[in-house]
Amino acid sequence: MSITPVISATGLFTPPESISNEELVASFNAYAEAFNAANADAIARGEVTALMPSSAEFIEKASGIKARHVMSKAPILDPAIMAPRWSERPNEEISVLAEIGVAAARDALARAGRDAADVDAVLCAASNMERPYPAMAIEIQDALGIDGFAFDMNVACSSATFGIQTAADFVRSGNARSVLVVSPEICSGHLNWRDRDSHFIFGDVATAVLVEAVDMAPTVHWEILGTRLKTVFSNNIRNNFGFLNRAHPETRDAADKLFVQEGRKVFKEVVPMVARLIVEQAEKLGIDPATLRRMWLHQANAGMNRLIAQRVLGHEASEDESPTVLDTYGNTSSAGSIIAFHRNNEDMAGGDTGLICSFGAGYSVGTVFVRKVA
Ligand code: COA
Repeated sequence: MSITPVISATGLFTPPESISNEELVASFNAYAEAFNAANADAIARGEVTALMPSSAEFIEKASGIKARHVMSKAPILDPAIMAPRWSERPNEEISVLAEIGVAAARDALARAGRDAADVDAVLCAASNMERPYPAMAIEIQDALGIDGFAFDMNVACSSATFGIQTAADFVRSGNARSVLVVSPEICSGHLNWRDRDSHFIFGDVATAVLVEAVDMAPTVHWEILGTRLKTVFSNNIRNNFGFLNRAHPETRDAADKLFVQEGRKVFKEVVPMVARLIVEQAEKLGIDPATLRRMWLHQANAGMNRLIAQRVLGHEASEDESPTVLDTYGNTSSAGSIIAFHRNNEDMAGGDTGLICSFGAGYSVGTVFVRKVA
């Protein structure tokens, strides 16, 4: 007999440092000015294109982002560096990605009143792993003292929802009773801070979701009513960094080895795809989309979320119906919808139905319909 999977708790780690749009733009513009001065002759000859200044006003208007948390603020803002920097850790010390994942996982375990010894599996579901192997998830499992199995999975911005479905399937099949889905996202490491079109997009964070069999869950939990995943190949969000870059050293440090996107196309193509998937899945589950109490949407762009929520609910969503964390966190890839859920679910009543939804590179879309039990 299939066992009902639920979300027992979520956890969050937020880096203490944050960069405002104004700080970010001052750094970018200092870099652009220095670049233009250094290349003045080539620019005058038409051989090099001058860099245009960035603007805090544009960033907030185009994306809804006002600030982002980061793991290493000063080097990102230093016009001579514009990347995070910290010392490489020896193998005996916990990796940076695992460390923030563990912090989020401990938060989730504490909220559920769960002993790590009762957890069976850990999925590290994120856009970028710190190394190919051993799996980040196994390092997190070890740091938490979990006896079981662990593996990494990457579906870019949809990693967490794909992880939730995987964990729910483990619980349904009896392969695990308690599964941690951990999403450490150090997006500052793959963002091109020198690219005017995208330098404002990402922030760093880690989230954790504890998915468990209903019979071991705390009294207050979220029943997972149904999940649906979809992927459609697209080059419009792409990062070509990888181990085979060593095979062509001449382009190893090119801009395409960081995040690159066609933002307009992404906006246009992903909005209808997401709205359709949500409505179809709601119908399949016998849920009238207009009755959803709250949608915790992926946090990439406030305009995208406005349009998706409108198509699903049939009216302009209030902040209460579709909460935003984009303003202070920026886009945190797979963690975004989980942060939104984590920070905006306690006020909901038993019986309330909601939707966690992610979308992004791949393209990938993940929906998780949940109902509060209290
Ligand atoms: N500061 C000031 N102006 C800027 C700028 C910046 N940092 N970056 C771009 N602009 C300018 C452009 O040069 C362009 O000027 P023009 O009209 O004179 O040519 C104008 O602003 C519009 O640029 P565009 O890139 O079309 O902006 P946009 O409205 O599409 O907004 C995004 C850009 C990235 C915010 C938006 O496309 C987006 O969020 N898309 C979805 C992305 C997404 O979800 N990706 C998933 C990531 S995981």
